[in-house]
Amino acid sequence: MDTPLRAVEFFSGLGAFAEACRFSGINVVAAFDQNEHANKVYESNFDLSPDIRNIETIRATDVPASSIWWMSPPCTPFSRRGKQKDDEDPRAKAFFRLLEILPERTPDYFFMENVEGFIGSRSEERLKVLLESLGYKQRSFNICSSMFGVPMRRPRFFLSASRLIQPKPPEFDPFEDERVLSDFLTERSDEDLRLPDSELEKYDAVLNIVDPGKKDAYVICFTRGYFKCRKASGSLIRLPDGGARFVSPLEMLNLFGFSSAYKFPAELSKQVCWRLIGNSMDVRAVRAVLATVGL
Ligand SMILES: C[S@@+](CC[C@H](N)C(=O)[O-])C[C@H]1O[C@@H](n2cnc3c(N)ncnc32)[C@H](O)[C@@H]1O
Repeated sequence: MDTPLRAVEFFSGLGAFAEACRFSGINVVAAFDQNEHANKVYESNFDLSPDIRNIETIRATDVPASSIWWMSPPCTPFSRRGKQKDDEDPRAKAFFRLLEILPERTPDYFFMENVEGFIGSRSEERLKVLLESLGYKQRSFNICSSMFGVPMRRPRFFLSASRLIQPKPPEFDPFEDERVLSDFLTERSDEDLRLPDSELEKYDAVLNIVDPGKKDAYVICFTRGYFKCRKASGSLIRLPDGGARFVSPLEMLNLFGFSSAYKFPAELSKQVCWRLIGNSMDVRAVRAVLATVGL
């Protein structure tokens, strides 16, 4: 058997990258994230404790030798909902710190995920120029969960780069996960997921409420503000009595392509789980990105 490739994951969150590597020849040897809840979830699923240090402060020697770097930096500097301050946003500092130390490490493969707003940004330009100067061949593209047949819109920017081979365009099997929305809605009780009826009226104009009985029903992108924020933070489900409910964290994991082996620790509140998944990635998309360089 080939020796597993070693990978390091930055801004690891709840570990969608590690989940995508679960049944692969890739061994995640280190993860970095400053969120203690995210790290707790990560640790309980992958037997690896992410480093909680602020990435802005790390040195090249803090990063173990590996063939693969994967990073999902904060998207607020590029998000349409944010002020789009790009490389001048303080939340982009950690990303640029990693670009500073990249020349000292130069992993064979470099991957990145972000929102579509990253495309055409100054940060994207700086990244591409750096990768080219270090001898990486690179390709960037959009992947949306719907491309796999999943009833969810979650378009994201991905970059695949390698010093060994030219990345290919990603391939999609539109029938990979062809379940209809109601197949993903597994919660038996709606009680603690129900949106108060008073809010239903108040926020009627901004809520996206989906009827799961419709054959082509799909949900739109869940954000970390799901539950807290009513506007553009993700779809709710129409109930038979005309009310609406939130999509549960478990249902979201299912929509994002996590395996049944993946679990949230029981003591974590739904609100925390929602925040973490809203930040996360579609596991099928991560696999499709890895496949662009034959991994
Ligand atoms: C967009 S999310 C990435 C989520 C991840 N891909 C997943 O699968 O859940 C960004 C993550 O970066 C972390 N983060 C943001 N700034 C950081 C910093 N300066 N140092 C370490 N972690 C940071 C946040 O806690 C958050 O979990």
